[in-house]
Amino acid sequence: MKEAIDLIFKELADLKAASQKEVEEARIRFLGKKGEVTALMEQFRTVAPELKREYGQRLNELKKAAAAKIEELKEAAEEAAVAAAPKEDLSMPGDAMPLGSRHPVSIVRQQIVDIFRKFGYDVAEGPEIEDDYHVFEALNFPPNHPAREMQDTFFVSTGHVNPLLLRTHTSSVQVRTMESQGLPIRVVCPGRVFRNEAISARAHCIFHQVEGLYIDKDVTFADLKQAILLFAREMFGPDTEIRMRPSYFPFTEPSAEVDVSCNICHGKGCNICKGTGWLEIMGCGMVDPNVLKASGIDPEKYSGFAFGMGVERIAMLKWQVNDLRHYFENDMRFLQEFATATEV
Ligand code: DAH
Repeated sequence: MKEAIDLIFKELADLKAASQKEVEEARIRFLGKKGEVTALMEQFRTVAPELKREYGQRLNELKKAAAAKIEELKEAAEEAAVAAAPKEDLSMPGDAMPLGSRHPVSIVRQQIVDIFRKFGYDVAEGPEIEDDYHVFEALNFPPNHPAREMQDTFFVSTGHVNPLLLRTHTSSVQVRTMESQGLPIRVVCPGRVFRNEAISARAHCIFHQVEGLYIDKDVTFADLKQAILLFAREMFGPDTEIRMRPSYFPFTEPSAEVDVSCNICHGKGCNICKGTGWLEIMGCGMVDPNVLKASGIDPEKYSGFAFGMGVERIAMLKWQVNDLRHYFENDMRFLQEFATATEV
């Protein structure tokens, strides 16, 4: 038995194993169930009692030495495998990180605001959940005006004198500005508005408006016309023309609807302007004296103009988008078209 132990010690000392597979084979050969060391352990049971102590010690050493050797070879083989694996090519280009971009409605809203800022207007904001007073009453809507009906307005609470509702236009911010700011006033009010409309290519229940309000001494309709002409030329190009058509809004008198010359066909007539050469962009007018009075401004001393436009509508005209719903569906293919469209 002694010779057998010595022989295995020698074999272990000479043992070489390059691959992980060879290490495993060596482990089975020495330490497996039928391995050489295991076989000697079996044999040990038959050793004469006076030799047990000596051989027992030797055998234990052998078993430990075999395990240590196998472990050592295993680590070496693992290291070799890692070293042999294909290296990372540090000169490869990195993975592109897709960058988000601003939403087209945000881009146009910002463009509108920036144009009016250049003209000296401030920006005012108001709450989306408003009361009937600021959305209707202070803006000269008669008590039974259809806009106050359930089918046009989302009410948050009803059944009392001044119900809460989702604002149907940003004209409510006019009222809040007149209540809280000193004169003169020159503001634009961008914001989200809500109407109880069936969703279609031309209408949505949520959209955005920019309202404008200018109040000072001696403000005239000519000032209004000039402000809108300058805005239209900044927005749609320097050769843009405007025309005004008489209209009606409870909060302005006189009131008008503004058209810009079609920036696609330049007046010749196309399917975007339905052959007319003109595109409607906003409502406007001189602030009704009743509206000034409701907010404590003396209409004998002051006058003003107001206008309101839909941001999605301006964006549709600017970029010839034919379905309003594109703006709300967050389809990446649509949104990415505007990734670089940030210039005014
Ligand atoms: N508030 C109107 C709307 O939502 C838009 C509007 C028209 C605003 C005329 C005005 C205005 O300030 O003078 O349709």
